[in-house]
Amino acid sequence: MTEAILLVGGKGTRLRPLTVHTPKPMVPAAGVPFLTHQLARARAAGVEHIVLATSYLAEVFEPYFGDGSALGLHIEYVTETEPLGTGGAIRNVASHLRSGPDDPVLIFNGDILTGLDIRALVDTHRTSGADVSLHLTRVEDPRAFGLVPTDATGRVTAFLEKPQTPEEIVTDQINAGAYVFRRSVIDTIPAGRPVSVERETFPDLLSSGAHLQGMVDSTYWLDLGTPQAFVRGSADLVLGRAPSPAVPGRRGEGLALPTASVAPGAKLTGGTVVGENARIGEGARISGSTVLAGAVVEPGAVITDSFVGSGARVGARAVLSGAVIGDGASVGADNELREGARVWCGATLPPGAIRFSSDQ
Ligand code: GDD
Ligand code: MG
Repeated sequence: MTEAILLVGGKGTRLRPLTVHTPKPMVPAAGVPFLTHQLARARAAGVEHIVLATSYLAEVFEPYFGDGSALGLHIEYVTETEPLGTGGAIRNVASHLRSGPDDPVLIFNGDILTGLDIRALVDTHRTSGADVSLHLTRVEDPRAFGLVPTDATGRVTAFLEKPQTPEEIVTDQINAGAYVFRRSVIDTIPAGRPVSVERETFPDLLSSGAHLQGMVDSTYWLDLGTPQAFVRGSADLVLGRAPSPAVPGRRGEGLALPTASVAPGAKLTGGTVVGENARIGEGARISGSTVLAGAVVEPGAVITDSFVGSGARVGARAVLSGAVIGDGASVGADNELREGARVWCGATLPPGAIRFSSDQ
């Protein structure tokens, strides 16, 4: 079958502090580094050779995935000395591809959770004879994405990355971050300098008359670029709403990894995952959240749609909703942190320091 390139070099800025010590694709979702789900799905679609295009915190990928044999894959790693952007990263790994000039090569953004039928995308590519085929999805607000209008046959007519003006919002179809490139097209991307596949390669290909084909579907799709989306994606994996062969356990309301300890009176719901050696105290209620390895949640804490980093501590009766607690941070008892709060790695909040209630 086809080989694949995974783009995993981004800084994950919007996910901080989750990405201070960990590159975005290695942040755990449903108990394993997110990238594991993408790799396992590619493998299930018949992909055997994968090249990881790394840059930010590049050194952590290989010690974890090694040669890929544990997943039935052959994985190679290519690190950019300076970030080359999405197109530059694709060009930079070209010498590691084995495909012939007309063969299809799969390319994935490293932060997308999706039920995409990978084989169907490759089939669309073959039958349409396109130079590049793109997975497209429809979203309510397309402004944070690449807009991809198509004609009646699915042929791409324009590519508008992150539109700035209302006139540019010509469609609700967006680039879903999975492509099939004809191998020879990869070789035409300029080497040795940063290139954005979205801002440079796709528009240039279109103006030179190349055939870009879109495949729109309505399967599960989520870009895990923000803490809120990341926590949602992890919960959907645990609940079984998002498909992955790599979830380490049965689908359901909660997933506690084997070495985690959850007090009998604690409640895990809404796709909550509790990582290795984490401890959840009596009466804690955790819903739709991710608690990483070694974290401690003290009795009576109420955690909703939140992310608790590795080794972090959430004090007794603390309330977290839509919050992110960085690795090793400590939230004292009776704090109340709501939508969008980000406690930085290693920070300490004294008991009762932050409230959203008047406590009269
Ligand atoms: N190797 C490498 N080098 N990878 C990179 C670099 C780089 O310099 N820059 C970004 N990446 C990787 C990121 O790690 C991520 O997996 C992928 O490329 C896309 O980068 P994001 O930073 O996540 O882009 P985005 O979410 O704003 O937009 C992209 O994805 C949208 C779908 O989620 C674009 O492709 C949009 O067109 C698309 O709609
Ligand atoms: Mg993204």
